[in-house]
Amino acid sequence: MSFCYWPLLLETAMKNIRHFLTLLDLSQAEFHQIIHRAIELKSMRNRGENFAPFPNKVLGMIFEKSSTRTRVSFEAGMAQFGGHAMFLSSRDTQLGRGEPIQDSAKVISSMLDIVMIRTFSHSIVEDFAKHSSVPVINALTDDYHPCQLLADMQTYWEHRGDIQGKTVTWVGDGNNMCHSYINAAKVLDFKLNIACPAGYDPSPELVAKNSDRVTIFRDIKDAVHNSDLIVTDVWASMGQEQEQLAREKSFADYQVNPEIMHLANKEALFMHCLPAHRGEEISDDMLDNPSSVVFEEAENRLHAQKALMEFLLNASQ
Ligand code: CP
Ligand code: NVA
Repeated sequence: MSFCYWPLLLETAMKNIRHFLTLLDLSQAEFHQIIHRAIELKSMRNRGENFAPFPNKVLGMIFEKSSTRTRVSFEAGMAQFGGHAMFLSSRDTQLGRGEPIQDSAKVISSMLDIVMIRTFSHSIVEDFAKHSSVPVINALTDDYHPCQLLADMQTYWEHRGDIQGKTVTWVGDGNNMCHSYINAAKVLDFKLNIACPAGYDPSPELVAKNSDRVTIFRDIKDAVHNSDLIVTDVWASMGQEQEQLAREKSFADYQVNPEIMHLANKEALFMHCLPAHRGEEISDDMLDNPSSVVFEEAENRLHAQKALMEFLLNASQ
């Protein structure tokens, strides 16, 4: 009686599944819509309003790297929506024992409603999404961290309004966060200065594609001049722990501190995705600087990802 399955297969194949693997999966209007919805969901929660539109929906959270903010924000967000979140570590699942991504994607997505993945190679989230029947969210790969940008751009909007036409300076490694800032600059139309030592540039292809708005500087002081937002991140990302000492030497001139903030515009904000290493990429006092919105930025992971999950679930029906 195999023909009984055809309508189901057809329905799955015809579903328009929206994934969020990089910021380029969103138009500018959709990015703005998610920021505004995040701000709305935040004020609803602050008013104590119960908003649970997704009872019985289950979010799978696949983690191949450590996390505090990402796990807590996704799990809390889905619980607040009336759904459930399931933590899946590669250490305890067959993913860690080499089960192919496409088999895992087919099986996991057949039982869940939405999946987030934090992993190493970006091709893993791409492969998973290709074989998934439900929306897939990139919760950080070696190449991109788009969820963090949703929270960062929400935070900027709350303090300063639209970022279009502004100048942002990224200080430090040309890493996954830097790549997502390049994509954000493209989608939201801002200028991006990148201050990094030679040898730690972001992807040359990505920079070349965005050469109309992205400029690389070797001198941090030149880069922050006239900037509206200064952002940095750890010098050694997850998976680069063995390079820590070498990187401390290479990045010694790339610390964000109050003196550096003074060179930016008077109203400039400071962000860091956290976790931070005080005394390395930031001075001991930087998180307490009046320009710092870092802890609001961290809280906004919750609101921004709730807005994202709502967007993807509704768009993929
Ligand atoms: N910023 C961020 O993604 O934090 P976690 O690694 O703690 O999830
Ligand atoms: N670049 C950092 C971001 C952590 C949220 C890393 O990949 O470890």
